[in-house]
Amino acid sequence: MSAKAPPLSAAEKKALVAAAVKARRHAAAPYSRFPVGAALLADDGRVFTGCNVESASYGLTVCAERTAVFKALSEGARGFRAVAVVTAADQPTSPCGACRQVLWDQCRDIEVVMQTTDGRRAESRLAALLPHAYEFGGPR
Ligand code: THU
Repeated sequence: MSAKAPPLSAAEKKALVAAAVKARRHAAAPYSRFPVGAALLADDGRVFTGCNVESASYGLTVCAERTAVFKALSEGARGFRAVAVVTAADQPTSPCGACRQVLWDQCRDIEVVMQTTDGRRAESRLAALLPHAYEFGGPR
């Protein structure tokens, strides 16, 4: 989120969650049978969605959140406000550690809205989910 971006309104959260719900329908998750949808809101107003895409070689699976981030970056978006994650779990699902790092790399301290398909919601910020985040400090 850029420094001056206001917190998401209730309507913005609702729209972002709705986009993640739709994206979840495209999940390719035959192994886990745990479809996940994500939606990432860019500073320019665009919403980039993602779903999890699993591989027969399980470790190659890409989560919904990283799919959304890579789609956004590859379409030229830079600067983000929030990500929504939707699953049909009993409780809202938090992004995995790998996705937290990739979200931090590209989005920094965005809002994170986690919601179940039956409407349970949890909200956080990425800095709370990934304290002391790694940032590359090598040669420039
Ligand atoms: N998964 C996501 O896509 N996002 C999350 O936040 C949690 C996990 C996927 C990875 C795998 O395809 C399935 O959910 C089960 O772990």
